[in-house]
Parts: sequence; C-alpha cells; structure tokens
Amino acid sequence: MEYRRRFRAGETVFAQGDAGQCAYVVEEGSVDIFTRAGDREILLATRQPGELFGEMAIIDDQPRSAGARAVTDCTLLMITRDQLNQRIERTDPILRMCIQVVLRHLRDTLHRLTNDGARLDAGPPEQLSREAREEALDAIRLEQELQGALDQDQLVLWYQPLVDLQKGHVAGFEALMRWRHPERGLVPPFTFIPAAERSGLIVPMTRWAFRRACLDLKDFQDAATHPPTFMSVNFSGKDFMSPDFLDAIDETLAETGTAPQVVKLEITETLLMHSPETARQVLGACRDRGTSIAIDDFGTGYSSLSYLQSLPADTLKIDQSFIRAMLNDDSSRSLVRSIVGLAKGLDMKLVAEGVEGMPEAQALRALGVDYGQGYLFAKPLPRADMIEVLRGWQDPF
Ligand code: CMP
Ligand code: MG
Repeated sequence: MEYRRRFRAGETVFAQGDAGQCAYVVEEGSVDIFTRAGDREILLATRQPGELFGEMAIIDDQPRSAGARAVTDCTLLMITRDQLNQRIERTDPILRMCIQVVLRHLRDTLHRLTNDGARLDAGPPEQLSREAREEALDAIRLEQELQGALDQDQLVLWYQPLVDLQKGHVAGFEALMRWRHPERGLVPPFTFIPAAERSGLIVPMTRWAFRRACLDLKDFQDAATHPPTFMSVNFSGKDFMSPDFLDAIDETLAETGTAPQVVKLEITETLLMHSPETARQVLGACRDRGTSIAIDDFGTGYSSLSYLQSLPADTLKIDQSFIRAMLNDDSSRSLVRSIVGLAKGLDMKLVAEGVEGMPEAQALRALGVDYGQGYLFAKPLPRADMIEVLRGWQDPF
C-alpha cells in the first residue's frame, strides 16, 4: 500500500468538499490550507514538516472542511482512516465527546466565515451516536458519584487473609476496596476501579485505603494468636505516576506509626509494562525504605522474565486461573511447578490466588508455595468480621 505521496509546488492535495481518504503529516516542504468566501481565497494555515492536516474529514466522516495545496515540492506521510479511528475508538468516552464537539465548533465557525455570518440552514449532522453519548454521560455521572463516595465516606476496605501454607496461620492480608452506594448497594470493584483510574480519582482513593489499612493492621495483630506480619495494598499506574507518591507513602507511614517492613505494595504486570522505567525507579525507592513489593496476577501479562528479574520485587502472586486449573489439567500444574522453581531461583515469596478447595491447598503446600489466598480460607471481610475470624482461627490443614 502507498503510504507516502509527493506533490509538486502548486499542486492540489485535495479540494474543499472532497470525500476524505486519509490525513497527512508533512515530511518535507509546506502546504497551504485555504477556504473561499465568494471569490476571495482565505489562507487558514501553512503546515510545515512534522505537522498534521486533513484529520477532520477522517474523524467526523464529513467532506473536507478546506482545501490543501503544496506551496513547495513536498512529501506527505499518509495516516489511514483505520490508524486514526482505531485510536480514537479506544480512547476515553469523554475525550471522544470533546473531540467531536471541538470539530463541530470548528466546522460551524468555518461555515459562518465563508457565508458572511449566515446561520446554518440545516443544523450540522449528528456526529456522536446515541450510544456513544450515553456512554460518555454515564462515565461522567459515575465519576461524580465516585467523588461523592470519597467525600461522604462511602468507601470501605475489606480484608482477605493470606495464609501461611506451611504453618497454617494467617500471615497477612490484602486490603480490597468496596463502595457502599446509598441506592445501588455494594458496587463491585470492576465497575468503579476502572472509572477511578480514568478520572485520576484513584490517587486519593488509594491514599485513603493505604492509611486505613495501616491502622487496621494493628487491630488484626492484637486479635491473632500468631500476629500477622504484613498488609498488602493495591496500587495503580496512576498512583505511581503521581509526583508526590513517595511523599504520601512516607507521610502515612509516619502518621500511623507503621513500619515500612509490614507494608506490601501490590502492582500488576500490566502497570509495569506501560511504564517500565518509572516503575523500576519508584519501586526501587520503596524498596530502599524497606517496604516489600508483590507482582499481582502473575502469568497473565506479557512482561519479560529479564525485566521482572531487574525489578526490586520480592513476591509473586500466581494468578487464580492457574490455581483453578491445576488439579484437572497437567499443563497448569506444570506451570505452577515452574513458577515455584522460578520464584525460588529469584529468592521471591509466592502467593497462590483463588484457592478454593483443600486438594489444591494440599498440592500447593506440597509444592512449597508460601502463602494461599482464597475462599477456602476466607472471603474478603469487613474489619470487624476479620477480627472475629482471627480470634477463632484454627490451622486448616
Ligand atoms: P479536513 O477537513 O479533513 O481537510 C481540510 C483540513 O484543513 C482539515 O481537515 C484540517 O486539518 C485543516 N483545517 C480546517 N480548518 C482549519 C483552520 N481554521 N485552521 C487550520 N487548519 C484548518
Ligand atoms: Mg491484588
């Protein structure tokens, strides 16, 4: 396929009103963008190397809003409809709405400019489908409600124990966020966590959770016969990227009187893959403070082993899909066995997620997996219920 075009000085790239085939980036030379008012030509812009034009007709599927003409001999790199629209479709619904609105304003303004300020006789065509608009509005509403949740203490932290598979007692916890909505009841995390990440609200939410978890760990330690030694808290990419991330951690540790050694930061492989360098630096700084670091959902992302090895992480959490399958499926069992070997070789602790039955638990224990987490031991529970569970805890093996 052709992906680059050359034009001679003075040659037309496209005319106003044409159907658009692709957008262009100027590689060499320059291009004039112009429109007409009566017989007068109005120069709108001159595009130079590195600049983009011809994107509007591709995004909103309307005729070319202006003409384009080569000023000098030039080379243009073509951007296909698919290349542009795939990206726009993948983007946040609110951002998509903004793009459409801005385009519409621009077309409207151009139209007034070239028609002596005449009103548009027919309104511009609908550019955003009803579903797309509903999606954007739902997203805005959900984000505003989430802000409310944060302000009005509707967020709660639940805890799930991580059991020492060799000794049979509770070694630590994972703190899990829940949203108690006044009308909708308990909102599941998979609906509100992605919205929180998209809107950036996840940052204050995680800070709240981290502080709450540090405070609650002390009560759990008091309640148990074998005091649990750590609290795992989930962190997102947005948390990591926030410039005062480390300061906030330090502040919470100091304010709650928590030793960094009892804190485990849980991060997913996906986060690591999106910004590997920042992740390495920030994790290094956490590790220097003495906190431990766990890679969540291990085995479901695509991070390379060499990259993993270069990280200051000390715990791997084997994704529940492998644990579920390991009893009936030889290849899953071999995978778990290899992960055990890998973890031992790298001197890392292992957690098996999603342990639901005693046969799996026994198998994992025999393989030498350090900790198990799952319904077999306990569901995620509110703080008070967790304290009860700890008071009555008995070795499950
Ligand atoms: P498109 O409508 O596909 O084709 C004409 C292009 O001219 C348009 O995309 C924009 O890239 C560009 N364009 C339209 N209006 C303006 C403007 N007011 N100023 C600068 N560039 C414009
Ligand atoms: Mg987790």
